[in-house]
Amino acid sequence: MGCETLSKRWLTEVKREHYYKEAKRQEYRSRAVFKLQQLNKRFSVIKRDQVVVDLGCSPGGWCQVLREIVGDKGLVIGLDIARTRPLDGVTLIRGDIRDEGTRRAVIEALGGRAVGVVVSDMSPNLSGTYSIDQARSVELADMALKFARGHLKKGGGFIVKVFQGESFKSYLVGVGRYFSSCRAFSPDASRARSSEIYIVAKGYLGRGETGQGTGKVDEEEQEEDVEVDGYGDGEANGDEKEDDRPEGRDGTRPPGG
Ligand SMILES: C[S@@+](CC[C@H](N)C(=O)[O-])C[C@H]1O[C@@H](n2cnc3c(N)ncnc32)[C@H](O)[C@@H]1O
Repeated sequence: MGCETLSKRWLTEVKREHYYKEAKRQEYRSRAVFKLQQLNKRFSVIKRDQVVVDLGCSPGGWCQVLREIVGDKGLVIGLDIARTRPLDGVTLIRGDIRDEGTRRAVIEALGGRAVGVVVSDMSPNLSGTYSIDQARSVELADMALKFARGHLKKGGGFIVKVFQGESFKSYLVGVGRYFSSCRAFSPDASRARSSEIYIVAKGYLGRGETGQGTGKVDEEEQEEDVEVDGYGDGEANGDEKEDDRPEGRDGTRPPGG
């Protein structure tokens, strides 16, 4: 292994440890909270009083941050296959985004309120074969986009995690068709070697306008410095996952939980 790779790995570990300790200190349930905070600081997608749906929310770190941002008049609905420990002021639904019944439960929980932002930090069960895991990640991201297209109000925002790879570019362009702006961005809190990247889209064009966007994405915001080994940032299951998760229909219980 070359010196450069070793020092990159060392840096990655230092960063990982730093965010882990910070999350513990601030009583957040996952290190992933810093990714969301950094994304929102940069792009201001989530605002006070908004209704936000958090797909793949367990153990609940993002929900904690979302609740802080939207405040008492806002609404946060978190959804995950895995159980999420109850959180004050957050509506939690346990289910698979691929099941219609689960999606119906989210609609019920909305009680007719329009969705301002959909965020998705969903990660597939890692098989260890990158091409398979990357394809599954895009599949989940696609489910998130479909959900967002079905429920976002006009002008709404969308943040979604995807593993980079073959179909990433076409997915990114696909998202761009439905929003007035769309960027791919890797926050500092994502591990240096991780292949995950977040797509941040703003200004949903509205249901009647689907397919009318330009598909233009801001290439400058992309960070291509990604290694394929060690993909995922090691917290695909969140940081304090409970071990009582059922397997999804296709056996998608994340490993090591
Ligand atoms: C990286 S974790 C999310 C961490 C979370 N953002 C936090 O800060 O606590 C990814 C989550 O996606 C969930 N997930 C994966 N596939 C899913 C699916 N089909 N439907 C719902 N959730 C799913 C996993 O159970 C896992 O909890």
